[in-house]
Amino acid sequence: MTLWHGRFSGQMDQAMADYTVSLPFDRALATEDLLGSAAHVEGLVHVGLLTQDEGTSLLQALETVAQELASNSFLFDPSDEDIHTAVERRVTELAGPTGAKLHTGRSRNDQVATDLRLWTKRELRELEEDVLEVCRVLEQSATAAGATYLPGYTHVQRAQPVLLAHHFLAHGWALLRDVDRLRECRERLDVSPLGAGALAGSSLPLDPDFVAARLGFARRFENSMDAVSDRDFVAEALFDLAMIGIHLSRMGEELVLWSSEEFGFCTLDDGFSSGSSMLPQKKNADAAELARGKSGRLIGNLTGLLVTLKGLPLSYNRDLQEDKEPLFDSVRQVRLGLRAIAGAYSTLTIHGTVMQRAADGGSIAAIDLAEYLVLQHVPFREAHSIVASLVRKSIDEGVSLGDLVVAHPQLGADAAALLQPGVAVTRRTTPGGAGPAPVALQLDRFRAAIESARR
Ligand code: ARG
Repeated sequence: MTLWHGRFSGQMDQAMADYTVSLPFDRALATEDLLGSAAHVEGLVHVGLLTQDEGTSLLQALETVAQELASNSFLFDPSDEDIHTAVERRVTELAGPTGAKLHTGRSRNDQVATDLRLWTKRELRELEEDVLEVCRVLEQSATAAGATYLPGYTHVQRAQPVLLAHHFLAHGWALLRDVDRLRECRERLDVSPLGAGALAGSSLPLDPDFVAARLGFARRFENSMDAVSDRDFVAEALFDLAMIGIHLSRMGEELVLWSSEEFGFCTLDDGFSSGSSMLPQKKNADAAELARGKSGRLIGNLTGLLVTLKGLPLSYNRDLQEDKEPLFDSVRQVRLGLRAIAGAYSTLTIHGTVMQRAADGGSIAAIDLAEYLVLQHVPFREAHSIVASLVRKSIDEGVSLGDLVVAHPQLGADAAALLQPGVAVTRRTTPGGAGPAPVALQLDRFRAAIESARR
């Protein structure tokens, strides 16, 4: 029997029940549902709608339910539509007639919104730690990279040499922005909807501020209709998670490229690679590929929810039940992905000589020649053209750029020295640049930023 059977004379059709049930996935909210119910009971006692004794017996029943759920001895009933009805049914079995007072002044509409905000707040807090862990791995990799340099790419064409540490930290700053976003999302969602009722509040003397404080929310809702229909926080969390997923995807793509024979920049640890069932020699970067692949479903979860929300009239509609599965899925997938990518990066073997060889050859330091001319008061556009012609000539005639530079009246041996291996990267001296001096500073600032995010 459902909690709302009084209005009906007929039974719910099984096809309807199968389609609408949410218990298989909203069981994940059990802890939050019990917390919300306990705060609600305390609120009812606080305003005199329950006696102390009634409150105590309901809290005891809630405690028993918590133990039963924790020990997997909680018996779900086929009539349990969702975790909220399951808990209330069991509390009523345990506390007798007092159990029937649990839902006083409350609706599942404010209840589920409360549960989901509590759940999201906690999960995003924990997830922040996982993101920071990847930042820490990148910081360690950057520290270990020392003076190693590699080609920096634009358009996947070798562009300029950069320190490997600089490259690692580029990913690190992106992830620190994610930490920031998660924190801001948590702050914005820190609003208690409890006391909004079905949509309009109550004729009973409820105290939403009291229950909000009990649940550790920063504040209560301002508008009961908004309270039960607002899922902005879910969409925002899904965006933040998709963004993390995209960052992981880009890091993963890089591991795929770098570990290929074509690049040969790194070797993945066996623990973070997989083999081929047919080709004996294969060692594949599957975790990195899945970081790339799973970003698709993270983006799908976000767009799916946005579409669900877009046409909904105020206030609660059952459509809103579709908020949970994408959120649970994205949180779980991103947490797994963060751990896998942290592991893959922290166990990576870097082939510094290969990287540096790729960054030493040809005309990768051509801009240094142009800037040499700029310092001789040649206008930049003219300098660019002089060096570009030399590069073209070197390719067309198969002579080394260095020889052409030495022979050039405006360049000469001093300029040619800029093309020597390892020189160009040391000349990136501007703040935030890719050379040793700014990168050392950047590393300090990155460490400090991790520390401040931790606090
Ligand atoms: N399982 C529902 C959900 O997730 C709970 C709220 C149901 N409310 C209602 N009026 N049917 O949204």
